Amino acid sequence: MRIDIISAVPLLLKSPLSESILKRAQEKKLVQIIVHDLRSYAHDKHKIIDLPPYGGGAGMILKPEPIFECVEKLQSERTYDDIIYVTADGEAFDQKMANDLSLKKNLIILCGHYKGIDQRVREILVTREISIGDYVLTGGELAAMVISDAVIRLIPGAIGDGESALTDSFQDGLLDAPSYTRPPEFRGMKVPEVLLGGNHKEVSKWKEKQRKLKTQHRRKDMMQ
Ligand code: ADE
Repeated sequence: MRIDIISAVPLLLKSPLSESILKRAQEKKLVQIIVHDLRSYAHDKHKIIDLPPYGGGAGMILKPEPIFECVEKLQSERTYDDIIYVTADGEAFDQKMANDLSLKKNLIILCGHYKGIDQRVREILVTREISIGDYVLTGGELAAMVISDAVIRLIPGAIGDGESALTDSFQDGLLDAPSYTRPPEFRGMKVPEVLLGGNHKEVSKWKEKQRKLKTQHRRKDMMQ
C-alpha cells in the first residue's frame, strides 16, 4: 500500500511516522508513506499557498493551484483509489471505514490548514471527505495520522500478533474486555480469578460478558 500525504505543515507528520508500528510497517515495506510539502508547489517569490476568502470571513484558505499541481503530478505517476480530504465536515471515520481503506493500493490524503481549502479542489480532485470526530482541529495533519494509523495497523504483518487486530474494540460491534498482566495482586487489587485459571472456555465467557457490560454502560448506541 502507498499513502501520499499532502500538507502545508509536513513537520507535524514526521514523528508519528518515524516511531513504533508505523515505522516498522514502512521498514517491512508493508506501506510506503510519502509526505509532500505543499509549499514546494507554490512558484511565486513568497511561496504563497493561502489567501483570505472571497466574500470575507475569518481565516485563510489554501489556494487551488499548488494542490492541483501536486495531485496531478502524483496522478500522472500512478492511479489512486481515493483522494481523501480530511475535514471536520466530512463523513465520520470509523472502524468499518478503516477496514475498507486498508484494502486500497494507493491513497492520497490532503490536509487542510487554516480555514480550509478552495471548494474547487473538493469538487474536482477529492473523492472522499473524512472527519475523525465532531470537534475542530487546527489542521488536517493529526486527522491524517489518526486515519493512517488505524488503517496501517490492519495490514497483515503490521502488528506482531496476527489475531489482535481482529479482536479490537469495534471489530465485531462491542468494546474490548479489560486486560491484566503480572503481578496477580497489586496494591490489594486482584486480577479476576478466572483469568489465572487457564480454562479457555471460561475465560472467553468472562471476556464476552465484560465486553457486553462495558458496551452497554458506555455506548448504548452500539447495543442496537
Ligand atoms: N480538520 C479539522 N478538524 C478536523 C476533524 N475533526 N477531522 C478531520 N479533519 C479535520
